[in-house]
Amino acid sequence: MQNQFLPLKIFICLILLQCLSSQVEDISGDYNKYISFHWKGAITSHSIIIKAFPQKSELQANPFSAFLFVYKRVNNKEIQLIQTFALNFSPGQNSVAEVQINSLAPKTTYYYSYLFSHSNILQKNDFIQYYEHNKVTEFTFRTLELALNPMNFTFGAASCADTGSTSSVFLNLKDENLTFFLHMGDIHYENIDTDNITKFYEGYYKTFQSPSQKQFFQSVPVFYIWDDHDFGADNSNGKSPTKDAVHQAYKEFVPYGPLKAKFPVDDFEAFPIEATKSITESDQYTLSYESDGPYGIFRSFIVGRCLFIVMDLRSFKDVIPNDILGKEQKVWLENQFKFVSLNERIKVVFLVSTIFWIDNKDEGEWSDYLQTQTLIANWAKKYVKNAGKQIMVLSGDTHAMAFDDGRNNYIGEFPVLQAAPLDSFPICSGGPYSHGVSVDRGQYSVIEVQDLPNDNVCIKIHLKKLGASLIQYDTCYPNSYPGTEGVPCPKLIVGDAKGYGWIILIIVGVLIGAAVLVWIVWKCLKRYKERKFLKKEKPLIELTESFVNR
Ligand SMILES: [Fe+2]
Repeated sequence: MQNQFLPLKIFICLILLQCLSSQVEDISGDYNKYISFHWKGAITSHSIIIKAFPQKSELQANPFSAFLFVYKRVNNKEIQLIQTFALNFSPGQNSVAEVQINSLAPKTTYYYSYLFSHSNILQKNDFIQYYEHNKVTEFTFRTLELALNPMNFTFGAASCADTGSTSSVFLNLKDENLTFFLHMGDIHYENIDTDNITKFYEGYYKTFQSPSQKQFFQSVPVFYIWDDHDFGADNSNGKSPTKDAVHQAYKEFVPYGPLKAKFPVDDFEAFPIEATKSITESDQYTLSYESDGPYGIFRSFIVGRCLFIVMDLRSFKDVIPNDILGKEQKVWLENQFKFVSLNERIKVVFLVSTIFWIDNKDEGEWSDYLQTQTLIANWAKKYVKNAGKQIMVLSGDTHAMAFDDGRNNYIGEFPVLQAAPLDSFPICSGGPYSHGVSVDRGQYSVIEVQDLPNDNVCIKIHLKKLGASLIQYDTCYPNSYPGTEGVPCPKLIVGDAKGYGWIILIIVGVLIGAAVLVWIVWKCLKRYKERKFLKKEKPLIELTESFVNR
């Protein structure tokens, strides 16, 4: 009797096996097949934002679902799954999925991996199975200490890389194990001059299609602000036709925290209410808030006991003659400084100026806005230095790496760090600088912040070229790095095949072209003279022939 049903049982088992195997086959951890690249930013003590970009051809040909699993490692083998997210890719060519991870613990290392499927909603067990069989690609980040609490950290800062640069400098940066990276602009050099969001997307895509840039940007949280070449054309300003497109592209493409916020808002509950209340009651920011419309990506954020104030020096430049900040950013900026003076727990201000700060007046960056620069320096003195706190300017723009301890900074007299270019033609403007200047490709800064038990905060500077430290400084031990009165910028850097090579090529081309032209003209003249001579000779020949015939 039992044998009577055996074929049916075997048939059902086969069907079940088939179903199970097809279900398993439908799941994949093949990151590179489904995701073009991703990057992360806006890291705080409890949150981070990840933006992932699908392989467009794969998504169009065979739509898939993607899931992001966030976990901690309990020991070498075991993991603790924290959160799962279904990625929701936006439609169209510029497809992106944003994941906001909240409710994280401070000072904790987290890991995350992706899983993909065409039909299934993936669960914890699916991930555990794929993780245990090493079938996923693993990424990581570490949350910050609760804002305003002492924290030792190391961050990188730099700007300027040719579009899609494949320089190994990005792998050097990856090896630095940074808490985060501050990109100070010119992430690409597309110099877009039309209001076309797709062109900006293409610029960002070209950046991340570089294997070395992709590896680096996927490895570390990034805070990114634009400068001229990735805002519009060379030296672009607030009147650039790209203004709407670049703002829209930035907001869709870049992982960023609150922009234009009245105060640094991460870990807001940690702030003393008196400080914020005092500013709210006395300032004019509320009145002028949003006066510059949707434009501007200036922002501030806190890491440990350091406040980062990041200015947007492109969106409002020259909209009002001789102005670079705009109405709203100017009020906002003073508020950030006031916040420092009213908040005892802030010890250091890093003021991010994408354009170089020490301007020798013939280069035309800050010197064109001297009144504003002086105003900022006065705020720095009144609210930061007079309160016994430190301030340092971090800048990019000009393609050189340099450090000045403040002695050549006549407007502000605080230290200035210049970190560029990651990989673009070397050229130097501004200065002089007390601790040297390096003008070359492959350059960046690594800044170590050490918050000591004695309440001092030391800032250790390492200016590096392709991993090698060329210029150092330590705010706690300035005598160990005495420097000089000032090293000026070298006037002209030659021999850079990628940078000035094209200029030399054009000059050589023009010279060769001119030589060929002269040769052709000389040949033509010679032929013309010969023909003229023959024409004159002909009657004589005819005369001679007639004479002989006779
Ligand atoms: Fe640049």
